[in-house]
Formats: sequence, structure tokens, C-alpha cells
Amino acid sequence: HQSLEDVTAILSAIGINEVPKQPNTYPELNPVDIYRSHITEILAPIAGVDKEIVFRGLQWATTLDNGDLLIATPALRIKGKKPDELAKELASKFPESPLVEPPKADKNFLKFFFKPLPLANIVLPSIIRNASSYGFNRNIGLKDPSDPSKGRKRVIVEFSSPNIAKPFHAGHLRSTIIGGFLSNIYEGAGWDVIRMNYLGDWGKQYGVLALGFEKFGSEEALQANPIGHLYDVYVKINAIFREEGEKYTAMEEDIKAKEVKGEDASAEKQQLAKEKEAGGDEAARKYFKRMVDGDKEALGLWARFRDLSIERYKQTYARLNISYDVYSGESQVKDESMDKAAQIMADTKVSENSEGAVIVDLTRWNKKLGKAVVKKKDGTSLYLTRDIGEIFQRDEKFHFDKMIYVVASQQDLHLAQLFKIVEVIGHKDIADKCRHINFGMVKGMSTRKGTVKFLDDILRDVGDKMHEVMRVNDDKYKQVEDPVKTADTLGISAVMVQDMTGKRVNGYDFDMDRMCSFEGDTGPYLQYAHARLSSIIRKVSTEASPDQLIKADWTLLKEKHAVDLIRALAQWPDVFLNTLKTEEPITTLTYLFKMTHALSSSYDHLQVVGSAPELLKARMALYASARQVLSNGMRLLGLSPLDRM
Ligand code: ARG
Repeated sequence: HQSLEDVTAILSAIGINEVPKQPNTYPELNPVDIYRSHITEILAPIAGVDKEIVFRGLQWATTLDNGDLLIATPALRIKGKKPDELAKELASKFPESPLVEPPKADKNFLKFFFKPLPLANIVLPSIIRNASSYGFNRNIGLKDPSDPSKGRKRVIVEFSSPNIAKPFHAGHLRSTIIGGFLSNIYEGAGWDVIRMNYLGDWGKQYGVLALGFEKFGSEEALQANPIGHLYDVYVKINAIFREEGEKYTAMEEDIKAKEVKGEDASAEKQQLAKEKEAGGDEAARKYFKRMVDGDKEALGLWARFRDLSIERYKQTYARLNISYDVYSGESQVKDESMDKAAQIMADTKVSENSEGAVIVDLTRWNKKLGKAVVKKKDGTSLYLTRDIGEIFQRDEKFHFDKMIYVVASQQDLHLAQLFKIVEVIGHKDIADKCRHINFGMVKGMSTRKGTVKFLDDILRDVGDKMHEVMRVNDDKYKQVEDPVKTADTLGISAVMVQDMTGKRVNGYDFDMDRMCSFEGDTGPYLQYAHARLSSIIRKVSTEASPDQLIKADWTLLKEKHAVDLIRALAQWPDVFLNTLKTEEPITTLTYLFKMTHALSSSYDHLQVVGSAPELLKARMALYASARQVLSNGMRLLGLSPLDRM
């Protein structure tokens, strides 16, 4: 890691004896912090305002043409001066600086451009030394930044949360991708992150599944492919149940017809009751009741379904670089937790009885929240009831500072109801720590064989597709060591990047051809950019070893392409902070595409292979730094950067 002493040495060589360091800045981690503090320290006395006001007014520019940092003069809150005149006045008063060019006054803005030479000198060593942690800042998650011994803030990120024996649909896929990314940004900011999967693994349907398994299950098939097999069993048994249901409906209609005619239907009624009693639905209810009552045998079978499914999920999640700290689930919510919550709801008069069921009329607080059932007539819990119990269990067990539910927008109402109920029964403290991060729908996600069922199927299909795309270029294809594995990684990148393109709330069309293309802003394009950098570095690795790079002669990087690339690389720590703020993967993704575009237009101008030794070393350091930033960004998004393809 880069230390403050390293920065001191670099700056003193250009005549700055004390590292500019405003409160809450990290010059050893974020090069732009040095500039922000430097400009603040000069501008505040000139403008006659507090340093804090200047510091907070400094913004980053959206395009390099607008400078590296800029300030809108109205932000300085100086009365009685026109903003544009103030900009001119401040520009003229700004003294010569070793770090920044004389500022440009442009309408209400004062624009600062970093001087190229010192910039390379400050930024590239910071990247080389901080390496895989460049851009991240583990101080942010400290409970008290001035006293690390007080520990870190804790966040639970609940994401993916599929339902056992049911399809893993596009909503689960998006939750997985976005949740993985959110976990990574909080980790990069130094929070203590708990990745949690809240499985749909409880309810009468698991009684149905168990009955189905008795009828159609195979031990062998279960071991080989638990997720697929349980789904097949579930589909089969449901078909039978549906037939039964249709039969009951027909019988009910007969009874009604008889009664309308004034005929006696008591025999038929008795018959219907008898059939229902002996039917599958009732059997499933009874089976689930045994599970609820803790019957060892019933629970044993269910636990095996759950364990085997989790084992398989783990393998698939690993392909997406995700590993969970906790596999929770609806089954893990204890009766005590739900009973306790029910008691508080009743005591606080938040809940009321309604025709034998228990409901909460949330319209008292907000019309849109409607009425929610928290206990069915037969006394059983619901999805919402379990979420209420679970929230208190998590609070007790994990003492989180923040909890994020990554769930599709379809469940906006559900989560709003959940948070409101927790709040109005006297736990505003807990409700305030919870956030729903939602996202829009994916349309048209299907496998080649039909509609999608499982994550593995989607990943297999995109992998196959990428394999086809790779084969088009035969020469290159032959050089790839493990084409199947490479195609697999590329396919996963394709799916993930497509998902992260655009704001979370927007849905999108699942478009296999587009996402798998090497052209345009796609996952394969990012991978290509990374592999190309790796290839350049490989080619010259015998001429300059990595530990020599830090001693490169930065004055040799003076072409506009080199300077602009360094300016882009300097932005990464700020982009990371901004990503933490927006919690949108697109914030990082947009930056990575901009950076890789700058990179690809620089290759013709900044040759490495064949350059004179010192120049080669300097350019290699530049490209190695670019690769580091690209890799850090890709990993943050959950991608696995490829070195060859
Ligand atoms: N298993 C649910 C589903 O597939 C998602 C769970 C979301 N999380 C929660 N705490 N309710 O719809």
C-alpha cells in the first residue's frame, strides 16, 4: 500500500513540503484528494470564505474538456458579486501552482486542469502501490474514522433468494447480479458485509413436493441434479392436484344445479367431502402440518431437499464470484419470533381480527399501503408474517447498521408494508436501517430449449453462444488454451454487463446476440480490453519487471493520449465513491467504458513493443496501471477479468 510518506516524498520533489490534506481526505489512496485540498487551501483565502465551503463546492467534471475539477462560483456564497465576474476575478488572483494550470473562468465556473507531469508522478505510483485496492477506501465503513478500534459498520445484503423446487427466474438473476455488486461496493468501502440468501423453502407447497417425491421421486436423480429433479417432481404432482381440483369444481357445480332444482344433494355433498378428505391437497396440508409440528421424518426429507439444493446453488453462485455468509430462508423463522411480533401487533392495536383472520390496516398511515393479512383463518403464517419475524431475528443475531433487500419492483408493496409494520409497532429504529433496492423486469429471457428454468441453463446457453462467436476467428481461437472455460467466463460477463447497463429501475429485453457481441458496450468488449492490455504487458515483461515500473521516468508520458488516460485513471477513486452513493452499477460501468475507449484510441499513438527502453518502461507502467484500474472496476461489478481470450 502507498503510505503518506510515499506521497510526501513525491510532492516534496516538486516543491510542496506539506501534503495538502483537508479533513476526511485520503491523499495516499485518492490522488484527486490532493488536488481538492490544494485548490481549497489556495482558493479559500483568495475568495475570503471557509475552506469547507470551497472543498464542498469542488466537483468533478463529466468530460475531460471541462477540466479535472471545477467549482460553480455561486457555491461560494459570496454576496454582491455576479457569478461570472467572480469567476474571472478569482481566476486572475489564483497564483502559480506546481500542481494545477492557471484556472479558466468559463461563465459561472472556475475550471481546473491538472498539470500533466506531476499528475503522472502522483497517480501512477499510487495505482502501482495500491494495486488491487486502488480506488477503494476501507476507512468509510469504520464506525469512527478517527478510532479504528471501534470497529466497522455492518450491512446485511439479502439477495438472490430463489424458491426451492421452483424456477430461478429473471427476477432472481437480477437480484443475484445487483446484490453481488452491492456487497462488493460496501466491502470496498470497508463495511462488514454479510451476504445473505433468504430461500423460499417453507409453506404448504413443500408438503406438496414431499408427496410428489414419494410418487415420482428418484434418489439417484435427486443426487445428480437436485434442483432440476425437484422441479420436475413439483410440476408432475401439481398436474395431478390440478386435475383433482377440476374434479371438485365439477362436483360442486352438480350439487349447485341439484339444489337449484330443489333436489336433495346431501349424498353428493358427502361424497365430495370424502373425496377431498382423501385427496392430495388435504394430504399436503397434513404433511406440512407435520413439518410445522417438528415431525422428524417429514422434516428429514425436506431438509435433504434443502441441503442438496443449496449445495448446487453454491456451485452456480461461485461461477458469478458470489459466496454467501448465510443461507437463511422462510423456514428459518421461528414460531416464537412470529408469535412475539403478533403479540406486539395486537398490543399496539396495529393488527385487528377480521373474519377469523388477523389483518393490519395500513391505510391508517398511508392509503397506498392497503390492508395486509398477517395470519390466515387456519392460524398459519404468510410470506409477510415470516418476513416480520425474520427482521427481528436478524436484528438480534447480527446487530446490523443497515440491511438491504434486493428484490424486484413487483414486491415494492410487500416491502413497504413490511417496513411500515415494523415501524408502527415501535421499531422505527429497525425500519430506518432497512432499504429495499428494487429493479425492473427482464423480458424475453428463455433458453434455446424453451422458457428458462434455471440459472445454469442460462449460463450454459450464453457460454455456447460465446463459443460460437469465438470460433469465427479461427487463428485467435487456436491460441486460446481452454476455450470452453473462456467462453463460459465471457458468457457470464455478457449476461452481467447487459443487466447492469442502464438504471436498475429500468427493465430490458434479454438479447443474446447483442450481449455476446464484441462491439458496443458489452461484457465481451470489456474482457477484450483487459485481455489486450494483458497481452501487451506479457510481450514486454522480460524487458521491464513489475518492480521496476514504479521507477519509470514519468516525464516521458507527455502525449495527449497518455495524459488523458492518466487523467481518466485518476478519477477511479472518485467514481468508486460516487458508485457507493448511487448504488447503481451503471455508475462504474459508464466510467469503465469511457476509460477503455480512451485506451483503445491510444494504442496507435503509444507503442510499447519496439520503443526505446526508458520509453517502453514508462508506457508499460501506464498500461499496467490501466489494466489494474480496469480489473478493479470489473471485479467490483462481479466479473472475472480474463488475461487471454
Ligand atoms: N423468495 C422470494 C421470491 O422468489 C423473494 C424473497 C425476497 N426477500 C424477502 N425478504 N421477502 O419471490
